[in-house]
Amino acid sequence: MSKTYVITGAASGIGRALVGHFAKENIVFAGVRRQECFSELESISSNVIPFLIDLCSEESVNSAVEFIRSKTDKVDTLINAAGCVVAGAIERIPISELKRQFDTNVFGHLRITQGLMELLEDGRIINISSMASYGIFPFISPYCASKRALDILFNSMLLESKRNIKVISIKPGVIATPLWNKSIEQNTKLINNCSGYEAEMSYMIKNADKNGKYGAPVESVVKVVSKADSAKTPKLTYTVGKDALAARIVSKLPQGFINMIIKSKVKKLSQGSRIEEDKKCL
Ligand SMILES: NC(=O)c1ccc[n+]([C@@H]2O[C@H](COP(=O)([O-])OP(=O)(O)OC[C@H]3O[C@@H](n4cnc5c(N)ncnc54)[C@H](OP(=O)(O)O)[C@@H]3O)[C@@H](O)[C@H]2O)c1
Repeated sequence: MSKTYVITGAASGIGRALVGHFAKENIVFAGVRRQECFSELESISSNVIPFLIDLCSEESVNSAVEFIRSKTDKVDTLINAAGCVVAGAIERIPISELKRQFDTNVFGHLRITQGLMELLEDGRIINISSMASYGIFPFISPYCASKRALDILFNSMLLESKRNIKVISIKPGVIATPLWNKSIEQNTKLINNCSGYEAEMSYMIKNADKNGKYGAPVESVVKVVSKADSAKTPKLTYTVGKDALAARIVSKLPQGFINMIIKSKVKKLSQGSRIEEDKKCL
């Protein structure tokens, strides 16, 4: 039987792939920030209903909720897939950027979920969290904190709610999507503001490029989301990829021990780059 899905972040990457998958047999409300994405989404299938949503704008989320409510009185699955990465050294990141990170990755998702709560009775909320939720990945700590906050708030919703709604957190490892290149483009100013951390920033840029090219395919996430969506008794959390599973296991170790390993890696990185710089001067 056909179901009704609401998927945010439908313009690209994981969200776009999920729309393609679920629209084969279901009605999918596909949330994007830009009107010019509508025609591409509509070309997937007549089952796709695009809508505008900017998670950073209360007004925009409210209109999106109003639009969905005017078209349906039931949502079987809400997939909160939109997201962005704020990157840089935390001592230099302006609070306004942290707010942007949390508005997009946490508060926007909470706002649309609150707005659709009545329609979700007997349904599911699937959040595309991240292995970043397990803890410290230095220089993208705003991203890690936002994903952890997302998981905590939605788990509380599950504990508190008297509604029959299942809440599932999907935690992918590195996936090849535009997210990584965007994480450099959108944070250029912040990265350039990180004097004293040049080696770490240049490593981060190279790594982002590598992630975008050689990460796991989006289909790996679609497969797990589909499994979580159809499972009679879904798990609370699904990891996607060996890297995410490793992050989950490492997160069980004492924080002091984890910090020691990461700090020594960061130290090696900046020493390595200093040696390269010295070689260039010779
Ligand atoms: N790629 C990975 O390695 C990875 C790993 C773990 C988790 N994830 C998570 O997976 C989700 C999807 O990311 P992706 O990798 O597929 O990257 P992506 O291709 O960049 O997709 C992110 C989507 O979110 C949208 N978005 C960003 N800010 C928004 C806002 N303020 N309001 C509404 N929509 C907004 C983007 O729209 P625009 O096109 O307009 O920017 C884009 O469609 C994210 O939550 C991300 O954190 C990704």
